[in-house]
Amino acid sequence: MARADPSDGQWNHSASLFGVTGQRTRTQVAIIGAGPAGLTLGHLLHCSGIDSIIIEHRDRAYVERRQRAGVLEQGTVDLFRSIGVGERMDREGLVHHGIHLQFAGERHRLPLTELAGGRSITVYGQHEVVKDLIAVRLAAGREIVFETDDVSLHDVDSDRPRVRYRSEGSTREIECDIVAGCDGSHGVSRAAIPRDAYRVFERTYPFAWLGILAAVPPSLDELIYAHHDRGFALHSMRTPSITRLYVQCAPDDLLDAWPDDRVWAELRLRLETADGWTLESGPVLEKGITTMRSSVMEPMQWGRLFLAGDAAHVVPPTGAKGMNLAVSDVRALGAAIAEWYRTGDREALDGYSRTCLDQVWRAEHFSWWMTSMLHRVPDADAFHHKLQLAQLRYTVESRAAAASLAENYVGYEHA
Ligand code: FAD
Ligand code: DHB
Repeated sequence: MARADPSDGQWNHSASLFGVTGQRTRTQVAIIGAGPAGLTLGHLLHCSGIDSIIIEHRDRAYVERRQRAGVLEQGTVDLFRSIGVGERMDREGLVHHGIHLQFAGERHRLPLTELAGGRSITVYGQHEVVKDLIAVRLAAGREIVFETDDVSLHDVDSDRPRVRYRSEGSTREIECDIVAGCDGSHGVSRAAIPRDAYRVFERTYPFAWLGILAAVPPSLDELIYAHHDRGFALHSMRTPSITRLYVQCAPDDLLDAWPDDRVWAELRLRLETADGWTLESGPVLEKGITTMRSSVMEPMQWGRLFLAGDAAHVVPPTGAKGMNLAVSDVRALGAAIAEWYRTGDREALDGYSRTCLDQVWRAEHFSWWMTSMLHRVPDADAFHHKLQLAQLRYTVESRAAAASLAENYVGYEHA
């Protein structure tokens, strides 16, 4: 069988070997998953002249609509600009210089930019990032195969890994040099690694978030993280006319238990302040429940398989780290792959996991800390509640404590 040099790009032909009934394709990097990690990696590789194929289980409309993250760190914004996907983000994203912490009925503003050396955050929906990355990839003539099924990885511990999947009724195969598992927390890539080749560090939380998207202008032009006796609440936004709100609920709650009236009533109770500030309500466009978990696998690689983003680690959403961490992983992975193709030196690739894990654990700690400080823990005693309030008061009163929150929130970068 003819074998193309990776730098020649792709070659295709049909084959029925090994149960492959459809197309066999060669590329340099096979990417599983068209979320922020997979799409950003694909574009970084394209910028270095490296060919890739992305396969995605869902259809394009689904991934472009899926409501997830909303807060981009300064480093994420800078990266998107530097690879030419920042134009709409710069036009439509909302740059924020502060957030609010609320507890004991009082609201306190943390001036992020002042505390974190001039850095800021940008509110821009993850689905908008995904739309921009898909558009730039397709415009560059690079491939995304949507609606794939039955993905399996083969020979990832050899120098000729293969990815097999079903698409449009036939089984297809990609032969590649490297596989990037960017398939999120429910993906299949991890299953290709023998169970004794990695460890998982995990924590679950006894609460969840119910999130709504509402057609109403934000009631304040910045985010509010609220600690309340009834549980956590968060006021965020997507655009000047769309508000995003979250309310702490039980992990086993069903959406039926949360009709719109109940959601708004809880949000008002938890967010409104005694000084007359009120929360504006409007039509609910979407509603969903997110369970909360911290998890890290170590190492994040095996042979020619490299995991990135939620496929390798998960944070609870408090603090808005997940998507930013996914982007930070693929920045390191893209650079390591480019280095390998350019020089043949595997050092950066071999060190990929080590390079990422300091950043991963910093974000894991920050997300766990924010989560622990802000949520009502069922069955916790009054002592626990008092400790949370003491920590919150210290965070808003001490410049050192506020600066620590701020530098983590806008994105701490290891020296
Ligand atoms: P994903 O976005 O999960 O993408 C994985 C992709 O792989 C998906 O498109 C999936 O369909 C596909 N896939 C899965 N299995 C397969 C398969 N077998 N074959 C092919 N494709 C497959 N993060 C932030 O940084 N800031 C925030 O403000 C923030 N807020 C959040 C709020 C909520 C309510 C939630 C749920 C999350 C939030 N996050 C936030 C986290 C963030 O959304 C995730 O960390 C981020 O989506 C991770 O990106 P990813 O590309 O690694 O994974
Ligand atoms: C949003 C999500 C978060 O987890 C967070 O900490 C801040 C904002 C959001 O979806 O807007």
